[in-house]
Amino acid sequence: MVLFIILKKIGLVIMKRLNIDLGERSYDILIGRDILSKVGEFISNQLEVSRSIIITHPSVRKLFGEKIESGLTLAGYSPSFIEIPEGETSKSLQQVELVYDRLLEMKCDRKSLLIALGGGVVGDLTGFIAATYQRGIPFIQVPTTLLSQVDSSVGGKTAVNHPRGKNMIGAFYQPKLVLIDLDTLTTLPRKELRAGLAEVIKYGIIADAALFDFLEKNTEKILSLNSDCLEYIIETSCTIKAQVVEKDERESRHRMILNFGHTFSHSIETLTNYTEYLHGEALSIGMIQAARLSVETKLCHKDVPLRIINLLKKFRLPVQAPDLKSKDIVESMHNDKKNSHNKLRFILAKAIGLVEIADDVPEATIKAVLNKNK
Ligand code: GLY
Repeated sequence: MVLFIILKKIGLVIMKRLNIDLGERSYDILIGRDILSKVGEFISNQLEVSRSIIITHPSVRKLFGEKIESGLTLAGYSPSFIEIPEGETSKSLQQVELVYDRLLEMKCDRKSLLIALGGGVVGDLTGFIAATYQRGIPFIQVPTTLLSQVDSSVGGKTAVNHPRGKNMIGAFYQPKLVLIDLDTLTTLPRKELRAGLAEVIKYGIIADAALFDFLEKNTEKILSLNSDCLEYIIETSCTIKAQVVEKDERESRHRMILNFGHTFSHSIETLTNYTEYLHGEALSIGMIQAARLSVETKLCHKDVPLRIINLLKKFRLPVQAPDLKSKDIVESMHNDKKNSHNKLRFILAKAIGLVEIADDVPEATIKAVLNKNK
């Protein structure tokens, strides 16, 4: 495994580069400021493509469209835009078909590059389209939310939803490049910033006690978008994710640790029809439940969930579970693709910074945790 960080100077931009080593599917993650205007430069340095198509939301185009377009035009990539409606409902096969139509109309071929400009919805949808259009065309990720910068843009999970479940139709398909421009966070709604921080806290719990300490000590600085703090938490999160994905790209086992709290949070999201919580907000509650399950199964001390709750509260993330029946939650958990052969699998905490995969937690234990903490 090779993973390295170097400082690189391109024009006036100082940035960090991480390389995710996946053999012929390896790629760079570049993290810095004023990256959007230089996307064309980065593409021409690394890729051989004829043209570019930016897939984004109307609101994101309003904020960043001109900046990214001018750099791409200057570098000779004549970008076109495809706008998709905001929200999780765009992650559908119907939306995929609409985008295929546009790509065919534009006569896009295998040398055309898709650019996902936006958050997780845009990234997951664009990645899936890139994986399937003409049996696969190149794409890059330009994530503009904290959540997509630290999680969904890295690692090659692409998907759309099926009426029966989230991310049920998809492919592992790696981007050619991930470009993280920290400047995009200045316009991000606070609620979304906090939701992204839930994923950063997750990395602390699963792999990095020092990151967790840092989050505890620098909460206010992070919430006020202190540059150094943001850079540190994004770089650290991407490094952890890259290491996990390098070890187990297709989630045969180790990658599952990235799902800490997610079995609970997906059920909360499903049972509240994806309308009450942002993913990171549901994850906040899900991580508390996973930590409490870890205590119930005698894997960790009760201080662990307490420390997690305190940190989530400091970031003003929800810590109170919604009023749902434990029977419904467990039933919904059984529909989750993270399980196998009808057994419920959980990622449990042994301590802050260390987790393990538990393959067969009894339903009675899960229900006990859910009922105790209503
Ligand atoms: N978001 C979890 C993963 O990429 O595996």
